Amino acid sequence: MTPKLIKLPKIYDKRGNLSFFEHPNQLPFEIARTYWIYDVPGGEVRGSHAFKNQQEFIIALSGSFDVVIHNGEEEQRFSLNRSYYGLYIPKMYWRRLENFSTNSLALIVSDKPYNENDYIRNFEEFKTLINEK
Ligand code: TYD
Repeated sequence: MTPKLIKLPKIYDKRGNLSFFEHPNQLPFEIARTYWIYDVPGGEVRGSHAFKNQQEFIIALSGSFDVVIHNGEEEQRFSLNRSYYGLYIPKMYWRRLENFSTNSLALIVSDKPYNENDYIRNFEEFKTLINEK
């Protein structure tokens, strides 16, 4: 699997629109955890790590931000600015979140509970592990 933008259903309604995702229709994994990042001061960067095992799905529920993904060889930038698109990130991709707009809200769902041992926080270690594969 490779990182990909997944377009979510959008139920147009004059009372207000509605979007959703569920496994297995939109999301390729079952959700074990949900967290969100908010109140990000201008210019701050979140993330900057990879996961050995967990997969994630990231949505800009409000505002906009960029998700920059590195596969050990090259970078790819995804600008998220609609609440009906999510970015799927498989395990073993370095990723950082940046360019947060004022009042942006990043929703992240993962297929694993929080586990600090699943983090790779050193980019050189990440590249070494990628090259061992
Ligand atoms: P971290 O994942 O390092 O943040 P970033 O989005 O910048 O990569 O998490 C920051 C802190 O929050 C860290 O001390 C661990 C804690 N944390 C949890 O306890 N549970 C969670 O689900 C997450 C994502 C983080």
